Amino acid sequence: MLSVSSLVIFGLTLQSRVSATILQNGQVKPTNYLDTRVDSSAYLFTTYPANATEISYKGRWDSKHVSWWSAPGIKFGYTGQTVAISFGNLTTNGVLVAYRISGLDWSFTNVTGKSTHLLVSPSTPGAASAGPISPWTFEMRVTNWAFGVQIEAVHVAAGERLIKLPDFDRRIEVIGDSLAAGMYTSYEGLSNEPEPWDFSKSPPADLVIINIGTNDRNAHNNVSTFAYIDALTKIIQGVHGKWPKAQVIVMSLWLGFYQSGNTYFPNAPQGWVSEVSQMVNWFNSDYLRDPVVYDGVTKKSFKADRSQVGAFVHYFNTTGIMQHNDIGPQWHPTDVGAIKVASHLQQFIRVKFGWDLHATGPEVFHDTQYWNDEPGY
Ligand SMILES: *[C@@H]1O[C@H](CO)[C@@H](O)[C@H](O)[C@H]1NC(C)=O
Ligand SMILES: *[C@@H]1O[C@H](CO)[C@@H](O)[C@H](O)[C@H]1NC(C)=O
Ligand SMILES: *[C@@H]1O[C@H](CO)[C@@H](O)[C@H](O)[C@H]1NC(C)=O
Ligand SMILES: *[C@@H]1O[C@H](CO)[C@@H](O)[C@H](O)[C@H]1NC(C)=O
Ligand SMILES: *[C@@H]1O[C@H](CO)[C@@H](O)[C@H](O)[C@H]1NC(C)=O
Repeated sequence: MLSVSSLVIFGLTLQSRVSATILQNGQVKPTNYLDTRVDSSAYLFTTYPANATEISYKGRWDSKHVSWWSAPGIKFGYTGQTVAISFGNLTTNGVLVAYRISGLDWSFTNVTGKSTHLLVSPSTPGAASAGPISPWTFEMRVTNWAFGVQIEAVHVAAGERLIKLPDFDRRIEVIGDSLAAGMYTSYEGLSNEPEPWDFSKSPPADLVIINIGTNDRNAHNNVSTFAYIDALTKIIQGVHGKWPKAQVIVMSLWLGFYQSGNTYFPNAPQGWVSEVSQMVNWFNSDYLRDPVVYDGVTKKSFKADRSQVGAFVHYFNTTGIMQHNDIGPQWHPTDVGAIKVASHLQQFIRVKFGWDLHATGPEVFHDTQYWNDEPGY
């Protein structure tokens, strides 16, 4: 079965930590996050091991409870007003993690291996509130590429306990490259060489989003239209074979912009625009009745078992969502560009499949709340 890691294509292997500066509107962004490391012997804790069933692991975690890829996280309910986490020795020093309680804002802290970090205490804003979310929930997400944390143990105050929360009832699998993973965004999330993902341990995905091929489109890599479309077709067939009920969204590629005189234009050639949309039609047309031509080859349509899903391949046209200033100097979407694409994709999913966006949902962003502090200035 395909795994995301085997499909991610980018020309970088970064093993060690590189110190870098985040620029926010041209200014250096402060990264002096709260130091949460404590001496655990000074606390009385009730301790749960990393494999406690009360802890839900979201996204990619390996068998040693080490995090991989974009924004993997944990979530659980708890009693009391204290949450601490001990990180194992497979944690990269200084990894930035985001964490929050219930529906409140995210906080950030850098964590290190072989140490315990106190993330919630009675003085944490909201920790001692009376609700209304009950039980209190704790969520953590791991940021940064090639970095990871290893969960060793989770602690609550002595006599308190963790509570297993109901699982999410839907799953999305993203098959992508550095663009989908968020390379060069503030909290980028790439990885190197994780252990193979054990698909059998998670329920099937409801939705598979494919955004892959920008590197193949690069002339330097000399990938023919046929090779690209053929590979993409096989990926979709593989997904459908494994998860026959999954819907598949194929995103059109974008390749940046160039300035021409007094305006900007998208770089040409674009990413196999007509071929990809023809491939989607091919999946959805009636078998044997509507042959589709692409790359000069006439193909009979895909013989899918549509009894469960109907036409299951969908084309998400990204044209017009990003403009030239949504692409950073290193050819990847900026934070705003990434959020624009994600927001449009959410709306596409809502309109197409009727999924809900909740008024007080989980989508709270950090460091995106800029405002003018004076009226009429
Ligand atoms: C957690 O790991 C320990 C040590 O390997 C094992 O004894 C225990 O059964 C595991 N617990 C669960 C819930 O898998
Ligand atoms: C890391 O932790 C594991 C489990 O506690 C231990 O067996 C191993 O020796 C440690 N490795 C290093 C390099 O400290
Ligand atoms: C915390 O993480 C940020 C983002 O990676 C980094 O810029 C900063 O240097 C880290 N701080 C420490 C103390 O490790
Ligand atoms: C590109 O690939 C084609 C087909 O495999 C091959 O014939 C050609 O020599 C390649 N061109 C370069 C510049 O590598
Ligand atoms: C994508 O959208 C653009 C802008 O609306 C449109 O010109 C283009 O034809 C669309 N592409 C496909 C394959 O539908």
